[in-house]
Parts: sequence; C-alpha cells; structure tokens
Amino acid sequence: MTDLLIAGAGGFARETASAVQAINRVSPGTWNLQGFLDDDSSLHGTERGGVPIIGPLSMVDDMPDAAIVVCIGNPRNFHARQMVVERLRLPAERYATIVHPSASVGSGCLIGPGTVLLAQVALTADVTVGQHVAIMPQVVLTHDDEIADYVTIASGVRLGGGVRLARGAYVGAGALVRESTVVGEWSLVGMGSVVLRDVPPGEVWVGNPARQLRLVQARG
Ligand SMILES: CC(C)(COP(=O)(O)OP(=O)(O)OC[C@H]1O[C@@H](n2cnc3c(N)ncnc32)[C@H](O)[C@@H]1OP(=O)(O)O)[C@@H](O)C(=O)NCCC(=O)NCCS
Repeated sequence: MTDLLIAGAGGFARETASAVQAINRVSPGTWNLQGFLDDDSSLHGTERGGVPIIGPLSMVDDMPDAAIVVCIGNPRNFHARQMVVERLRLPAERYATIVHPSASVGSGCLIGPGTVLLAQVALTADVTVGQHVAIMPQVVLTHDDEIADYVTIASGVRLGGGVRLARGAYVGAGALVRESTVVGEWSLVGMGSVVLRDVPPGEVWVGNPARQLRLVQARG
C-alpha cells in the first residue's frame, strides 16, 4: 500500500479523494490516503469528507515515500496547478496517476503522472494525456486526441477525433470541440460552447459557434 497526499482541499481535491476511495473499494489496499495538504493554516486539523487536512504543502518533503497529486485550480485561476507543481520541484515519479474505476481507457491511450480521471470518463483509442491534467466526470475523449500538461477538462466535455488541447487549456463544462481543431495554450472555452475552429493561445471563447469573448488575464 502506497501513502498518498492530495495537494489542495477544495472541490477537485475532495472529488479526487472520492476517486481514491472508489479505487480502494475495487482494489483494496492500493492507496493509503494520508490526507490533504493546504497552506491555509486555519484548515489544519480539520476534515473534508472524513479525510484530514494535515498541514502545508511543504509536508511533501517530510514524507519522501508518499505519492502526491496536485488538485488545485478553478476557472478563475487555472494557472494555479502549474504554479504549485513548479514550486514543489518533485521528480515525476513522486506523482500518482488517479483513474476512477468506472473510467474507460481504450487501447493505445497514455496517461501521464499527476493526472486525474474522475468517474465515467471515456478515452476511446490512442488518446494521449499529459502530466497534471484534470479530467472531470463523463468527459469523452476520442481517437488521437492530444491533451497537453496542465489541461483542465470540466464535466461532460466531448472532443472529436484528433483534437489538440495545448498546455494549460481549460475547457468548460459540456463544451463540444470539432474534430482536428486546436485549443491554444492557456486558453479557456466557456461552458456549453461549440468550438468549430482553432482557438488561439491565451483567449477566452464562448458560444455556438464559439467566438472570442476576451483575452485570458495573466495568471488567471
Ligand atoms: C467563459 C467564462 C469564463 C466567462 O466568465 P466571465 O469573464 O466572468 O464573463 P461574464 O459572466 O461576465 O460574461 C460576459 C459575457 O459573456 C457571456 N458568456 C459568459 N459565459 C458564456 C458561455 N459559457 N457561453 C456563452 N456566453 C457566455 C455572458 O452572457 C456575457 O454576455 P453579455 O456581455 O452579452 O451579457 C465563464 O462564463 C465560463 O463558462 N466558465 C467555465 C465554467 C465551468 O465550466 N465550470 C465547471 C468547473 S467548476
């Protein structure tokens, strides 16, 4: 059994803890979830869903044998996960890959360290998912999609085949992305949008068909 730490104690962190518990129900003894790490000292000693918030992020250095997954970030600050990973400066082998047991991962798919797939995610075939990627429930990624590091894909998103989500891109809940299109680095696609052409880097696009709403503000 491997000790596991979850960085963050917000909604995505608690969802990841639930996925870890589901893994342990199907494969008992896979993870020994030690708790959440959060730099807000007022949270230390409290619990979320029965899982304790044990201390600050720097505790990863006190527990060198524990695996960790960084579960930080939201649509208002989707750069935060990369900032925390850069700050921790841990080797890739310290990072856990968490795949909910109800997720479906087809042949030829690759999933990087630090990445989380929540319930009922489907990767059909030959999908590549990078490091520190967050994939929420019921996302469908189809053949030959390429998901770069630090991407966030909110619940219910569907990507056509051969779509590329560049580093740090955020795709909001329920969005649809046409086959072979690209969402640029650190761009955000609003919830429910229908993306029919390439989204340049650093832009927020919304609507059906999706169009530019504004630029992404620096670091959030
Ligand atoms: C795209 C988004 C970031 C825009 O947020 P914002 O910059 O605060 O924009 P506002 O809410 O001020 O809206 C600005 C305009 O865009 C429109 N708009 C905002 N989001 C939209 C969306 N998803 N689709 C279509 N139009 C949208 C608003 O109606 C408004 O139009 P108006 O100026 O004609 O009234 C946000 O609406 C969004 O979709 N976030 C993703 C949420 C998500 O997926 N969460 C799931 C994980 S928690």
